[in-house]
Amino acid sequence: MKHHCVIVTGASRGIGAAVAIALAETGITVGCLSRSGQNPCPSDADESLKQRFIALACDVTDRDAISAAMQKVAEITHHDISGIVNNAGIHISGPSEDLAADAFRQMMDVNALAVLQGCQVAYPWMVKAGHGLIINMGSFYDRLGIKHNLAYCASKAAVGAITRCLAVEWAQKNIRVLNIAPGYIVTDLNRDAIEQGPLGAFLAKRIPRGAPGQPQEIGQLVAHLFALNSAFMTGETIYIDGAQSLTD
Ligand SMILES: NC(=O)c1ccc[n+]([C@@H]2O[C@H](COP(=O)([O-])OP(=O)(O)OC[C@H]3O[C@@H](n4cnc5c(N)ncnc54)[C@H](OP(=O)(O)O)[C@@H]3O)[C@@H](O)[C@H]2O)c1
Repeated sequence: MKHHCVIVTGASRGIGAAVAIALAETGITVGCLSRSGQNPCPSDADESLKQRFIALACDVTDRDAISAAMQKVAEITHHDISGIVNNAGIHISGPSEDLAADAFRQMMDVNALAVLQGCQVAYPWMVKAGHGLIINMGSFYDRLGIKHNLAYCASKAAVGAITRCLAVEWAQKNIRVLNIAPGYIVTDLNRDAIEQGPLGAFLAKRIPRGAPGQPQEIGQLVAHLFALNSAFMTGETIYIDGAQSLTD
């Protein structure tokens, strides 16, 4: 099953930008959604590659906005949407005893509810296409207890659960759902802490391979999963963390 058109949320920078670039390099046209609407296409890309990026401003917590953006991408490309990478996410931390209900809700809205709604809006397009692949961006924090990260950990555990439930419900429609759970990847989310704070030295010791991941490593994984077309592979959480979560 060939994918012609795939949506990536949070594609303006970081992991989402790397995913969009990796998919476009395989010939897929990518609808790149983010609040800013910034186009992740490298400035030195050739013309044929540039044409595979459609960048739109869209807040993923607004279901109508996601729906309108997908419609627009389909109109521009004249292709059904057969894939979505629900990658947009935020991180808020702080002591759990002071965690405000609004902060918890905000984290769940962006990191979990928006993932579900992205899947729901993409569903009819995939049914129409006759096949679909959904990749949700979780985190290796989904199975850990991290101090001051209760809301983030809960939101990413929810992503794993959403992935499993939809994989079961939508399998008969030829729609597969996977959850990628990265470890530390150097992006705007943590760059200052890794490059300027003690986190960089800590990770060099803590991650068995000795260094955090790069966004391109997640981009390559996503592009391979779209190319692989492994019909029996669905509902799974794929950890990609340099074995950090396996060691003591
Ligand atoms: N970096 C890591 O170490 C790491 C590890 C595990 C999991 N993850 C997960 O990977 C995903 C990407 O993380 P990242 O490190 O690449 O983050 P990032 O560099 O901070 O980028 C976040 C992306 O999400 C978009 N975004 C945030 N809120 C949005 C909203 N309401 N509507 C639309 N777009 C929104 C941002 O776009 P604009 O600002 O342009 O709107 C941006 O493109 C997240 O789900 C994160 O939890 C990251």
